Amino acid sequence: MVTYRTFHNADPPHLLRLWHVSDLGPSAAEGFPCEVLELAVFSRPYFDRRGLIIAEADGAIVGMAHAGFSATDDETALDRSRGTLSAIMVRPEYRRQGIGRELLRRAEQYLVARGARVVTAGAGPNGNGFYHAIYGGVEPSGFASGAAAWDDFFTSADYRPGIRTTILHRDLDIGRDPIDARLIRNRRRLNMLITDRVSDHSWWWHARHSHQDTLQIELADRGTGKTVATGRIVGLDMYIPRWGVRAVGIRDVVVSENERRQGYAFSLIVETCRQLREQSIRLVEVQIQEDNTAARELVTAAKFEPVAELRTWQRSLNSDTT
Ligand SMILES: CC(C)(COP(=O)(O)OP(=O)(O)OC[C@H]1O[C@@H](n2cnc3c(N)ncnc32)[C@H](O)[C@@H]1OP(=O)(O)O)[C@@H](O)C(=O)NCCC(=O)NCCS
Repeated sequence: MVTYRTFHNADPPHLLRLWHVSDLGPSAAEGFPCEVLELAVFSRPYFDRRGLIIAEADGAIVGMAHAGFSATDDETALDRSRGTLSAIMVRPEYRRQGIGRELLRRAEQYLVARGARVVTAGAGPNGNGFYHAIYGGVEPSGFASGAAAWDDFFTSADYRPGIRTTILHRDLDIGRDPIDARLIRNRRRLNMLITDRVSDHSWWWHARHSHQDTLQIELADRGTGKTVATGRIVGLDMYIPRWGVRAVGIRDVVVSENERRQGYAFSLIVETCRQLREQSIRLVEVQIQEDNTAARELVTAAKFEPVAELRTWQRSLNSDTT
């Protein structure tokens, strides 16, 4: 018989085992110890044990679903009207018995009781409060397409498809760096600075990423000192056991509106890759949302190639959700 309950303090080692036997696909880190789960999940300031629902059978944990909330638009607090399903998994030998569906129903119940009007399964870009550094690579922006029959599972529970995020990789050992006239001109005019200076980060950023190695990248005009492009590098060391190489992610690349179309973002990415190669980094990852054509063209020109896709599904909730 399967029973359901909320998280207990003694669960982490058993959840770690569940993670490692659940075939979560290449977007899930593996081979990490319980302390990492502690950092990425249980120590987050908004972790609520009642949102982490456990399925037990035959004296063991056989499934879990983790519900939470995204942040307000100004990223200063949780927005309890926007629920998330941050994770869901069932041990392979217990699948197709309705356990996933029941975990989902209980996760929705938890969210409705706290005021959620919508639930996003997979949480979406910048929406997930948990699993940074261990799921999704640069960001746990959704559930990995190939890892489960997600469409069947969520459609059968009345969800509609949401955002698609493409994961792209560049293997720094393969091929040459791109070359073009703007890159050469920018290299002469601009200085690149990589620092551990953490600035302009919101509460939501700190709450989710404080356990991750993060560096700031800046491109500045040599003459005026003015910063023309910025970005961040996040360490992906937890993926070394799965991918077999040292990897980092580049994210949050920003060029101010009046500085665009001068190749600054391109220079920032190409130059960062060059410097990372010198630090023995082999793989660089970026994530691009499906509607961001400019970013997709940029990273394609910088020789990144699509390797996976993260997806979300959504459902409106109301107080009748049972
Ligand atoms: C997705 C997952 C949670 C589903 O768990 P489950 O307990 O097998 O799901 P259920 O038995 O409750 O299925 C409910 C419905 O979903 C659909 N469904 C689920 N798995 C399916 C499959 N493999 N093929 C087709 N439909 C499927 C069916 O409509 C099913 O209803 P039915 O059995 O009456 O036809 C499970 O496959 C899993 O753990 N996959 C890996 C999860 C993962 O990668 N998580 C990473 C993010 S944390």
